[in-house]
Amino acid sequence: MTATVLVVDDEETARLVVSEFLRSKGYEVLGAGTLAEARQFINKGEADIIILDVRLPDGYGPNLLTETARMVNRPQIIIITAHGEISMAVEAMKNGALDFIEKPLDLLELEKSVRRAGETVAMHRELNHLRAAQAGQEEFIVGETPAMKQIIDHARRTAESGISALITGPTGTGKEVLARYIYKIGIRSGKAFVDINCPAIPATMFESELFGHEAGAFTGATHKKIGLMEVADNGILFLDEIASMPLDLQAKLLRAIEERSFRRLGGTVLINVDVQILAASNRNLKEMIANGAFREDLYYRLKVADLDLPPLSARKQDIPDLVGHFLRKFTARSGSQITDVTPRAMQALIDYSWPGNIRELSNVIERAVIFCDDPTIDLNHLSSDVLNAIDTGA
Ligand SMILES: Nc1ncnc2c1ncn2[C@@H]1O[C@H](COP(=O)(O)OP(=O)(O)OP(=O)(O)O)[C@@H](O)[C@H]1O
Ligand SMILES: [Mg+2]
Repeated sequence: MTATVLVVDDEETARLVVSEFLRSKGYEVLGAGTLAEARQFINKGEADIIILDVRLPDGYGPNLLTETARMVNRPQIIIITAHGEISMAVEAMKNGALDFIEKPLDLLELEKSVRRAGETVAMHRELNHLRAAQAGQEEFIVGETPAMKQIIDHARRTAESGISALITGPTGTGKEVLARYIYKIGIRSGKAFVDINCPAIPATMFESELFGHEAGAFTGATHKKIGLMEVADNGILFLDEIASMPLDLQAKLLRAIEERSFRRLGGTVLINVDVQILAASNRNLKEMIANGAFREDLYYRLKVADLDLPPLSARKQDIPDLVGHFLRKFTARSGSQITDVTPRAMQALIDYSWPGNIRELSNVIERAVIFCDDPTIDLNHLSSDVLNAIDTGA
């Protein structure tokens, strides 16, 4: 692989000596005399490795560490320190610098350090490649915040034990993604996953959809029909937007869950099933219970595991990881060469309030990938909602 090294030093002679040396070792080399020049290369995604002087005409070199920390393909930074600046160097290492080298420069030591940085870059590229291949095939749950870690832990236990779960959270927070994740990792994977979007089923049809009917059960029932509950036997029944389920059916569902059996409409035979129920809702079910619009007993029966997904604005630390996930997913799909997001664009993504949560973030990145011809996504590729929020501070 070829790695591009950016040498940031305001002393031209020093910069040229280092550049020439690295070129002779087969590296592509760029040079910058100021932080501003360095940022231009970084924002275009052109620097894999940065050799960074500490004191530059327009600021403190190691500031680049924090600025680039959240990039998806963060450059590897080697700091050049004056003799005796050990505490500064230690601080820089804590902030993610790969290495530091003291002046006067020993070129062989520098080469060793750059080679090590090159290996790290190659490893990250390989990892991103693998992740991109994976992200194209499946949605997976990304989350490092304590709240998400706990939800994922509870989801794993739900999956392994086969208990019912109620998945709540505002629109676009990943309720369906989580239900499918539970299915995928659980004891019922490979069996049926039956997804019922409750609002899409007319109230009069709900019972026969869920429990099926015998021929002649009602006008128009010419054939026997197997209900979705029966189709889900041994697997999972996912009741999405369960708040839309008619009240009388809520009672019948509760009975079927408790007795693990039901009768088809117009039928006499008791049908036994073994089904794990996952239900999702973005409405406040407690409020609906208070208004008599949702059954309290069903609520508690479903809520054996309680998975409440936070809005994206409450888990902003996860935004860079999610951006990386969607970037890999959409570039893999379109074959685009985009590798990163500029620090200022990432900051705008972190600062935005995300009323549409992860779905909105996914759409913003998908759009940016389509509209971006550069190797990095910058502010001008983001949607107007995100950009307007920068001006108004929303
Ligand atoms: N944890 C996650 N990891 C990766 N992608 C996610 C995650 N959560 C959500 N998404 C993305 O966000 C989109 C919306 O998620 P999902 O459909 O599960 O939301 P929802 O909570 O069911 O929303 P609604 O209440 O509007 O139905 C998904 O298509 C997926 O791309
Ligand atoms: Mg949903």
